[in-house]
Amino acid sequence: MVQEIERCNRLALLGGEKSVAADPQDLFTWPMITAQHEEAVLKVLRAGQMSGLEVTRQFEKKYAAVLGRKYGLACPNGTDAILEAMYGMGIGVGDEIIAPSVTYWASVAQAYTLGATPIFADIDPRTLCIDPGDIEHRINERTKAIIVVHYAGMPADMDAIMEIAARYDLLVLEDCSHAHGALYKGRQVGTMGTVGAFSLMSGKSLAVGEGGIFFTDEKRIYERALLFGHYLRHDEITLNDLRPYIGIPCGGFKHRMHQLSSAMGLIQLDLYPKQMAEIDRAMNYFCDLLEDTAGLGPIRPANESHTTKGGWYYPHFHYKPEDLGGLSLSRFSEAVRAEGSVCNPGCHKPLHLHPLFTSMDVYGHQKPTRFANLNASAISGRFPEKLPVSESINSRTMEVPWFKLYRPDIIQEHANAYKKVAKNYKALLADDRGHDDEIGGYTSFHRTPSGTDPDIQ
Ligand SMILES: Cc1ncc(COP(=O)(O)O)c(C=O)c1O
Repeated sequence: MVQEIERCNRLALLGGEKSVAADPQDLFTWPMITAQHEEAVLKVLRAGQMSGLEVTRQFEKKYAAVLGRKYGLACPNGTDAILEAMYGMGIGVGDEIIAPSVTYWASVAQAYTLGATPIFADIDPRTLCIDPGDIEHRINERTKAIIVVHYAGMPADMDAIMEIAARYDLLVLEDCSHAHGALYKGRQVGTMGTVGAFSLMSGKSLAVGEGGIFFTDEKRIYERALLFGHYLRHDEITLNDLRPYIGIPCGGFKHRMHQLSSAMGLIQLDLYPKQMAEIDRAMNYFCDLLEDTAGLGPIRPANESHTTKGGWYYPHFHYKPEDLGGLSLSRFSEAVRAEGSVCNPGCHKPLHLHPLFTSMDVYGHQKPTRFANLNASAISGRFPEKLPVSESINSRTMEVPWFKLYRPDIIQEHANAYKKVAKNYKALLADDRGHDDEIGGYTSFHRTPSGTDPDIQ
């Protein structure tokens, strides 16, 4: 009997039984493809409308209505949607835009194409989103916009950010690629800034295949974006100062969304609210089970805040090694994975330290592209930024399982995996080789318990 208890408590990494025994079946399958999707896609194929505009326009209108936004413009991917939105907002040569350092590169790297300079701000360790307290001292006469990323599903502190933006007359681009359907104090993300932009690629919460879209209430932003990359829609351009240039996309880009993606999107918009409610239930259940576990801290909005994580894309927990005898995150996550659950250490590596943002001359300016359009006094002493939270967060956060269905029995097994490792941390200290500098990355892969990568980000 005693031996049996010992065997159950022994960590799987050290020869014990795995905590997760159940077959996950479709618990992690994403996106969920139904006969409705198949029909919608086949209809486009059979009508020979892959490159058309009609279905895309329907998708834009339907999504804009969900958000209560005036204009929506669909693109081949989220990266293009953000580039277009930036051009639409008038971001150009010599402008500075303030963005969080911890995010996927496509929140901001497009600024180079427009001759603008990203300026990185630190993140709030509680939310992993841009820290409003680290924005203001970076603003100067060249600052044009703030990029906000609702990172890993968690809405950023929009009240504080919008207050700063209003005071300095700055534009705000919300990158909602991780947070479709999330609410900030009851308001949908993507509706508070000047622009709300979304990636819709197939790993995202609202997935259409490859695709992206941005929304705004400002006609000038919308029409400038049309001019930039939608030559077949130049007939929609009404502003007199833009009309002389219609016919050829002024950015030299062709940013039309594939209509198979738009057809997918129309169905996804119908199905997503129900899916989101189930994910929210499943993820909150998982978080509740682990709320009081030493070393762990679920990242989720406070109760009664009317703030939600929408589809919980790329869910993360805090990791507190000080509660577990200093056990490294690398060792902790290795042990959880051995139990059969998902635990990927880290998040995105800080962009401000990547050579693209410190030294690379992308276009032949004979100096780093980041400084190509700034004069010497604008550069002196400012780069690279010192961002202590961004530089250390990868050893203090981890990606946890992203449950798509509320299956309490299986979710409990995953929670037990985390609890078991936290409880038995002492057994792991002896062979702990410490924090692995390679954790985190510039690209993220979702790993399921079976080890497959359902989608590349
Ligand atoms: C925060 C963020 N912004 C932008 C993008 C770019 O979207 P896409 O991959 O559709 O180009 C992504 C994609 O992973 C993202 O995570």
